[in-house]
Amino acid sequence: MKIAVIGTGYVGLVQGVILAEFGMNVICVDLEQNKIDSLNKGIVPIYEPGLKEIMDKNVEAGRLKFTTEVSSAIKDSQVIFIAVGTPPQEDGSADLKHIISVAKDIGQNLDDYKVVINKSTVPVGTGELVKNTISHELNLRAINIDFDVASNPEFLQEGKAVQGCLNPDRVVLGVESNRALDILNKVYHALRVRQVPFVVTDIKSAEMIKYASNAFLAVKISFINEMSRLAETVGANTYDIAYGMGLDARIAPEFLQCGPGYGGSCFPKDTLAIVNIAKKNNESLKIIEAAIEANVLQKQHMIQKIITNMGELTNKKITILGLSFKPDTDDMRDAPALDIIPALIKNGATIHTYCPQGMRETKWRLSEYADRITYFDDEYSACENADALVIMTQWNQFSILDLDKIKHGMRDNYLFDLRNIFVTDNNVRNIFKYFPVGQK
Ligand code: UDX
Repeated sequence: MKIAVIGTGYVGLVQGVILAEFGMNVICVDLEQNKIDSLNKGIVPIYEPGLKEIMDKNVEAGRLKFTTEVSSAIKDSQVIFIAVGTPPQEDGSADLKHIISVAKDIGQNLDDYKVVINKSTVPVGTGELVKNTISHELNLRAINIDFDVASNPEFLQEGKAVQGCLNPDRVVLGVESNRALDILNKVYHALRVRQVPFVVTDIKSAEMIKYASNAFLAVKISFINEMSRLAETVGANTYDIAYGMGLDARIAPEFLQCGPGYGGSCFPKDTLAIVNIAKKNNESLKIIEAAIEANVLQKQHMIQKIITNMGELTNKKITILGLSFKPDTDDMRDAPALDIIPALIKNGATIHTYCPQGMRETKWRLSEYADRITYFDDEYSACENADALVIMTQWNQFSILDLDKIKHGMRDNYLFDLRNIFVTDNNVRNIFKYFPVGQK
């Protein structure tokens, strides 16, 4: 089966590579010539464990190609995945200009029956919009060609994207015809035979499943973060609270880790977007609105925790370990570090930092604070002469740090463990003035 994946961002690239791994003939399309040139040289533009190996293997097998030629890619394929960005606008709603532009391209180049699938996270009703846009272009060409639109939302987690796509919890298919469903079943045959659950529904429900899932997980995190603030005040232990709650199968242990607030490319964007969709439909989603507000408060609480315990920050050196919004990614979108670092600087601190993958992007995102941030090549040199160490992201390599050695090089010994990676280490409180999240 010949498939075009339009958009080689996180979702599109991973989707293209995985579909090739499933045996499909895939052509990944992007308008950016530089990106396609790099991909054709085997350079993966994102840090995602395992992706390059599968990409190289499938390029070599002739099943995976990259191009900027959108028209020929559309004409040559029976299935077209739209995986372009839907960035948030001022009011939180998703900007659909890239989706519309691809739909126009499809309408202008459609020459035979094809299935057009939305992979991007899009507001309810976008399936219809894509269908109408393609139909409009066909009308302009004064021809009538049959096509189907479908929705197949992506649930990949950055840092675990390859495994997540090879072994998903479920595949959601929003379809309007059996013809489209038959084709999608063939596309995902590799997952069908592995008995991965398939949820087949209408397009609008599929679009909602994506937003509802992300919003629910964001609510879950904000819930435990609120519990952690109360636990700190009353002297309870959130680590035990989450463990005790998570053993209830109805609650489940995942996404109950308190921390500096959720970030990334999905939760912040999708919670705002679904609230906006509700508003446009004269509904209000109070729980999700509260989760968004709680997330802002959680970041402020981290800043306050540092200031309250250290006092005046002027002339204090604070080392931040970990910048990306989570481990195993270089993605800095909505990373808590982007709010917490400027606030510490505005309160007088200078920042020393090290992150295995997040420094390149932080340099441009926080360029206005460049004279107050120094980037280091490793954890130990970043901690030299620091007054405080803040663990911002739980990269595995930080949990095996030699704490005695770190402390030895520091000027003072504050340790703010915003990811609780040392919370079960009996010795940490002997070495540092230790402040985890969610307990005294
Ligand atoms: C998320 C969804 O999990 C995925 O299904 C969707 O397709 C895209 O959004 P991702 O953004 O890659 O994936 O990361 P995820 O692992 O879900 O973490 C998101 C944020 O929540 C991170 O900032 C993380 O640190 C935070 N988080 C997660 C917590 O604070 N506590 C937790 O228990 C879990």
